[in-house]
Amino acid sequence: MRAMMRPTINHRGPEFEKVYEDVLENLGYAFQTHGDVFPISASGTGGVECAVANLVCPGDKILVPVHGVFSQRVKETVEAFGGIVVQVPVDWTRAPSVEQIDEVLGKEKDIKASIFVYNETSTGVTIRDLRRIGEVVKRHGSLFMVDAISILGGDDLPVDAWHVDVCVTGSQKCLACPPGLALISVSEDGWRTITRDKARRHVYYFDLLKMKDSASKKETPFTPSLPLYFALDEALKILREEGLENRIARHRKCAKAFYDAIHALGLSTYPEEANRSNTVIAVNNPKGIEDKAIRDSMRQKHNIVVGGGMGRLRGAMFRIGCMGMISEAEVTATVAALESTLCYLGYQITLGTGLEKVEKVFHA
Ligand SMILES: Cc1ncc(COP(=O)(O)O)c(C=O)c1O
Repeated sequence: MRAMMRPTINHRGPEFEKVYEDVLENLGYAFQTHGDVFPISASGTGGVECAVANLVCPGDKILVPVHGVFSQRVKETVEAFGGIVVQVPVDWTRAPSVEQIDEVLGKEKDIKASIFVYNETSTGVTIRDLRRIGEVVKRHGSLFMVDAISILGGDDLPVDAWHVDVCVTGSQKCLACPPGLALISVSEDGWRTITRDKARRHVYYFDLLKMKDSASKKETPFTPSLPLYFALDEALKILREEGLENRIARHRKCAKAFYDAIHALGLSTYPEEANRSNTVIAVNNPKGIEDKAIRDSMRQKHNIVVGGGMGRLRGAMFRIGCMGMISEAEVTATVAALESTLCYLGYQITLGTGLEKVEKVFHA
């Protein structure tokens, strides 16, 4: 926030070149790629639209497994650009499986790209087999695109090692920067396809070829959101100081503390265990208590904001954000507030049951 207060600069001058150079280098570190990564002055959805607009030309067949609200949005974005979506049936408590993807790509021969939401923020499901799914996608000659908006920086995603051709994240999630920037990486295979289909794309502002050309001159094609670039520069420097591995371990530990505490309190989580997220914890409503009552009480009495369900899960769950600058202090305060709220709403628990689990995870 303080970084954003810096007076503005000329975005076509040496001062910006230095900021942009640092940002691009540190984005390479965050994405674990030697390929290109660009910031875009848009929220995460703009990043997904950029990826789709560059990859999907009218009539192209695109695989999109829908297992939550955000993958449904990806599907709608592909359709908006004239793509023909090939679906895979997935229960929302689960992630698409390697076998399902292999089967569909084997049957439908000419799927240009396969798009996955690595962390379905609406359900708390992470695709734990993403690396193996990527191998299958590439073996079938399809491009591998990942919406990693609510997970990059908070869990494993080595973009080059996992052969991700196009990866999108948002500034406001695990990178712990204010909202308003999307970050997008493109592999060599990605560039080959985009260049080949250059004339068939429907894109102008979000043209990745223009971004690549401008980046070679340490510029952006259009006016960048300078305060957010200053913030991203700082957020990425903080990430480097902490170290990506340490940040991922921190998210993992905080998530374990949440899951252990929630289960000890007799509550259940929405995703099946093998695919549960370390960055968003989706908790089913306790019997007879509405999530709205829990969320209102936590906000009003404890100043702690937790999300509700989305789409068809609205009214069925509450979701705890476990990302960014999350630490023992926030986990402890949240679990304490949840315990107090559950008691207040008449749910039978022994106070301290969840906190004991949190204490164990951090200090055993
Ligand atoms: C997985 C996923 N995709 C896309 C989005 C959309 O991002 P934004 O709201 O920044 O446009 C979100 C936002 O939470 C998300 O979690």
